[in-house]
Amino acid sequence: MPDEPTPSAHPGRPSTEGADTPRAPGAPDAADPAPVAAGAPGRGHARVRGGRGRLSRRAVLLALAGGGGAAATVALARGTAHAGPRAAPGASGSRADGLLARLTLDEKVGLLHGAPDPASLGQAGYVPGVPRLGIPPLRLADGPAGIRVRGTATALPAPVMLAAAFDPGLARAYGRVLGREGRALGQDVLLAPMVNLIRTPYAGRNFETFSEDPLLSADLVAELVRGVQAEGLVATVKHFALNNQERDRDSVDVRADDQTAHETELRGFEAAVAAGAGAVMAAYNKVGGVHAAESAALLTTVLRERWGFDGWVMSDWDAVHTTAGALTAGLDMEMPGGARYGAPLRDAVRAGRIPEAAVDRAVRRALAVRDRLGLLDQPPAARPARDAASGARLALRVATAGATLLRNEGAALPLTGPAARSIAVIGPTASVPFVSGGGSAHVVPDAAARPFDAIRARAGADATVAHAVGEDLFGRPLPPLVPAVDLDAVRVAAGATWSRTATLTTAEADEWTFLVHYSGTRPTVTLDGAELFPVRQGVAEFFAGGLLAAAPDGLAVRRVTLRLAAGDHTLAVTAPGGTDGQLFRLRAVSGADRAADVAEAVGHARVAAAVVLFAYEDATEGQDRTSLALPGNQRDLIEAVTAVNPRTTVVLNTSSAVTMEWLDRTAAVLQMYYPGQEGAAATTAVLFGDADPGGRLTQTFPAAEDRHPTAGDPRRYPGRDGIEEYSEGVHIGHRWYEKEGIAPLFPFGHGLSYASFAHEDLIAAPGEGGGVDVTFTVRNTGDRPGVDVPQIYLGASPDLAARGIDQPRSLLAGYRRLELAAGERRRVTVHLTARTLSSWSTAVGGFVLGTGRRALRVARSAADPGLRATVEVRSG
Ligand code: BGC
Repeated sequence: MPDEPTPSAHPGRPSTEGADTPRAPGAPDAADPAPVAAGAPGRGHARVRGGRGRLSRRAVLLALAGGGGAAATVALARGTAHAGPRAAPGASGSRADGLLARLTLDEKVGLLHGAPDPASLGQAGYVPGVPRLGIPPLRLADGPAGIRVRGTATALPAPVMLAAAFDPGLARAYGRVLGREGRALGQDVLLAPMVNLIRTPYAGRNFETFSEDPLLSADLVAELVRGVQAEGLVATVKHFALNNQERDRDSVDVRADDQTAHETELRGFEAAVAAGAGAVMAAYNKVGGVHAAESAALLTTVLRERWGFDGWVMSDWDAVHTTAGALTAGLDMEMPGGARYGAPLRDAVRAGRIPEAAVDRAVRRALAVRDRLGLLDQPPAARPARDAASGARLALRVATAGATLLRNEGAALPLTGPAARSIAVIGPTASVPFVSGGGSAHVVPDAAARPFDAIRARAGADATVAHAVGEDLFGRPLPPLVPAVDLDAVRVAAGATWSRTATLTTAEADEWTFLVHYSGTRPTVTLDGAELFPVRQGVAEFFAGGLLAAAPDGLAVRRVTLRLAAGDHTLAVTAPGGTDGQLFRLRAVSGADRAADVAEAVGHARVAAAVVLFAYEDATEGQDRTSLALPGNQRDLIEAVTAVNPRTTVVLNTSSAVTMEWLDRTAAVLQMYYPGQEGAAATTAVLFGDADPGGRLTQTFPAAEDRHPTAGDPRRYPGRDGIEEYSEGVHIGHRWYEKEGIAPLFPFGHGLSYASFAHEDLIAAPGEGGGVDVTFTVRNTGDRPGVDVPQIYLGASPDLAARGIDQPRSLLAGYRRLELAAGERRRVTVHLTARTLSSWSTAVGGFVLGTGRRALRVARSAADPGLRATVEVRSG
């Protein structure tokens, strides 16, 4: 029997084993803390409701001292003004303090770093408790799209797909599923949500987060956090901050001015804090010359003093470089081990180099959150049972709501009439469902149907539905070797080592892909003396995609593509049995095999009334993409198939934006991202029109690799000499396309419904709290129910422009997701908050209301002229 797949943490990487490898000390703290002062932004901003805005002790002292301190109070109060149902923070202080008084130094230090879990459930992190005082251990599990433990869990659609629904209420429901399931699966802390913005289309983790847009991301993260914590699981908003790429992620030094940071990336974190997030994870990268996990500017000035965060800050995995530096900066907990916060911390306190009060402060913060969420209750609250059925229902709802129809020529979709009865289903992900992305976000579902089966079942018994793989992802058995040896299912006994050498003879020069599938330690395979699957350095070894890295039966997979000359080649294989024995196989795909797969697909496409072609792109944590084109042989496949059948719908299972050199040849394109365990059902429902495609793009799709906000300047991406400048400023995502006048392939906010909608009778007027109310009518002019997502884009403030404050030409200021029956009309009011109407003023050190006459439009996307109006924004 092959081992079960390795869903626990990162394959091969110790999860709760506490990697204590010491690191080089980090750079000194930035001498550039973010300002705490804020100007009076107009009465509209002072939305502080009784008791919600809590000031840190330092802020209170500053306020009492007057001057800058008073301004800090304003900023802080504003930071917490949107606080939701967060419990009164002060209430937990006493229990935490009571425990603190009884803890020894060793026990306190033990609460501030991870350690090996004696009863690991396969989760990423563990912090031992203090049994003598009834403090239970903490188990911390990834990740954003499901609870990542050993064994299976509900695999929800990737957050980028949730975001496509433009529905904060759905984000809360998603959070509740994560929260309940996390508790049920023995966890206390969720290492999610990720709220870093999509800044470059290449970033490997774009699927784990929401959007390029600060407002949308902020709305969604706040509701998701509320959902998770309503179930008693601590939410950890990550990765704080400016962690927008995987390339050089441990070392890249991001330079973003305060205005850029506060108006873009920081907004989501601020919203998560206001929603009561219990924990924040400090990122790997540097910001302004200092590692984020050691940045007082981020962890103290912004997070605690400006926003009033009262939870605890943990490091990303192995992201701590100093002991005193990190603790003083505001990092409370090191994960997953104790290289800096274990013995070095204890010794430094004993030697008087670090005051014990600094340790107490960190312990108090972590205990207070645990108390607030009931994790210190005695006796401990019973954990709920897993509710897999409701998790599956929500997964289906999100995958349908986020399904984004990008193109639909000649009403190719939904499939009806002959097109619904004669279908060629093509592509590897039609038969191996693409469920979940790679890296720490990967979740292994209880079950996931194959899209091909779902389509065949929906089409019915009278229909002809055929499948062709189109591109072979997992390889076929090798051609005969001399001497004969079958490498397609080799079992190696525990403790044994299996070795063979044989000759592979190729008749002509060709491009080959070799693949090894294995259940234990990766076999060593050499071809003509060169190692085919070497162990890679660093994180690259641990992270692989969510689709390509495991065979359908769960064996780990590595692959390599190379050109082979005609003739004899020596293949040598050595496989260790390890302690449990293992199963492995060596496979290959030749250029001739590739051509045969395309030819088979073309044969099916030619005789079918319609084609549904599943295309993939497999991103993962630990690496950025190097191209926006679909990988592998997919372009050739799409071109060959569309040449014989133009009624082709391409279903995309991709992490993020892809370029589509082949777009004009297709009839329809449906973006399904990584749709989770119910992807087959959701895709089928949308293809056949049982559900309206409810998603809209939360990131702009560029027309080409050189036409997007981070193209053309290595200082902007991926950085030069270790430094990366966010020189696009506040013009992230769709704002950049508008400013530069560059047409994207598909704009932010774009997505087609099967119905059609009219927007009418627009009025904009000053609203509550200094904001603006935008009222309009939405009418379903189609003959079927459908989803509309009107978006409100707001033009610049002339008054801020006069003060020299850079502003987006237009920014997303509000939106509403609506489901309307055929012919139904609805009057809608969308409130644009004072914060959304404000810009960061460096002179003031805070947000300033953007007063004056401002244009706005209700539109279908960032590029749609929409229905226009103007509004006079006044302070007070
Ligand atoms: C990732 C985090 C994750 C952690 C634990 C890190 O490599 O950046 O997002 O939560 O590992 O798995």
